[in-house]
Amino acid sequence: MEIVRSIMSQYGFVESDQKEKADIVLLMTCSIRDGAEKKVWNQLKLIRSNSVNKRQIVGVLGCMAERVRHDLLEKRNLVNIVAGPDSYRDLPRLVAVASGGSNAINVQLSLDETYADVQPIRVDAESRTAFISIMRGCDNMCTYCVVPFTRGRERSRPIDSIVEEVRRLRDQGYKQITLLGQNVNSYRDMTSMDFPMNPSTTEDRVPGFKTVYKPKSGGLTFTSLLEKVADAAPDVRFRFTSPHPKDFPMQLIEFIASRTNLCKQLHLPAQSGDDETLDRMGRGYSRDLYLRLVDDIRIILPNVSLTSDFIAGFCGETEEAHQNTLSLIREVGYSFCFVFPYSMRGKTRAHHRLTDDVPENVKARRHLDSTTVFREEAMKLNQKLIGTEQTVLLEGKSKRDVAFSHGRTDGGVKAVFDNSKSQLNPGQYAKVLITEANSQTLKAEFIRETDL
Ligand code: 5AD
Ligand code: SF4
Repeated sequence: MEIVRSIMSQYGFVESDQKEKADIVLLMTCSIRDGAEKKVWNQLKLIRSNSVNKRQIVGVLGCMAERVRHDLLEKRNLVNIVAGPDSYRDLPRLVAVASGGSNAINVQLSLDETYADVQPIRVDAESRTAFISIMRGCDNMCTYCVVPFTRGRERSRPIDSIVEEVRRLRDQGYKQITLLGQNVNSYRDMTSMDFPMNPSTTEDRVPGFKTVYKPKSGGLTFTSLLEKVADAAPDVRFRFTSPHPKDFPMQLIEFIASRTNLCKQLHLPAQSGDDETLDRMGRGYSRDLYLRLVDDIRIILPNVSLTSDFIAGFCGETEEAHQNTLSLIREVGYSFCFVFPYSMRGKTRAHHRLTDDVPENVKARRHLDSTTVFREEAMKLNQKLIGTEQTVLLEGKSKRDVAFSHGRTDGGVKAVFDNSKSQLNPGQYAKVLITEANSQTLKAEFIRETDL
């Protein structure tokens, strides 16, 4: 939306906070699970029924536009514009077409669109945290996933334009930047002339991990990007999401260890802890290989905070397979896990070749099991932090009690402390002493203001 806001404002459109009266309403959508799409359909009905503007134009943007383009346009009374993830530059034209009374559609996917030259317009500056998109698309083709079909081929935004955006955010007082993409750590800037002495090779991947695509080589890798951004803004914390476990060479982990402003928090989406399920998912690794990666990472980053994604009830997942996932979650000990009940998506390999045979109530129970187990482990990890000093970046005031502020530790765990005497603002770092912990939040005492 930050990119869309930027493009639309260049053409003179002004943002309104009155959805019912606005001339144009644009919805950014997600297709990853059926639930996400259902929400959009409900919203679309609500928008039309609440509108007081008879000529209001409604546009559906993003992955759902790409995936269900025809269904959307058939609902002529609900939708006027359908714009896929690579066609936002075309929005002003699409609006003009729709204003003339016709439906407007552009769902062309691109091999090189990264919106590198579009300066995103951010509206929530209060927390002093921002996201920067560094790459788009995905070539991994995990069998359950619709992303490669809705987002298209993987492509990386040139390093220089990312560094420029980092500098701009730093100058505006931002203190945390999350580098974003569908597969961030396979980032490769092939456009830069600034090639390293030893061009990266396929060894950028972790040995043993497999890909369905021909391994890429050359160009500037994710490690080079991290080096450039970390140098460009030494007082800004960097995080990144979402990576794939195959693209974590030890050189990258060692580099993260060497810089204080690269957070010691890694998202390592496992999806399952069962070999046969992982194989059907097409993830390119076994449980053992994944666990070896975790061990290797923990040798270099002993205090790293790991997070993950899991799918509950994928095609053919037996009770035993599910137990293997629970035991992996216990063995690794994540500070947070996103768990999703499996949702069959059209076009995917799973849709063509596998059967969605786990009943919904079983998916729901397994989903709950995985969440319960990760919380038990997260609780233990958080309790180990009691008595330690942590550096917290302030993000805002607590909703329950304004004397309290909240922020995040380097590991990404939420921490709350009494800020009434210190009066620090969002964007400032505080050294705090952790005094209490549950599975999601830490309570702390303020010690002093600090630099990163
Ligand atoms: N059903 C459920 N979860 C899915 N994810 C991707 N596709 C599906 C699907 N069809 C999850 C994966 C991924 C996260 C972003 O969404 O866990 O890592
Ligand atoms: Fe989907 Fe992520 Fe797999 Fe790409 S790597 S296909 S985005 S789950």
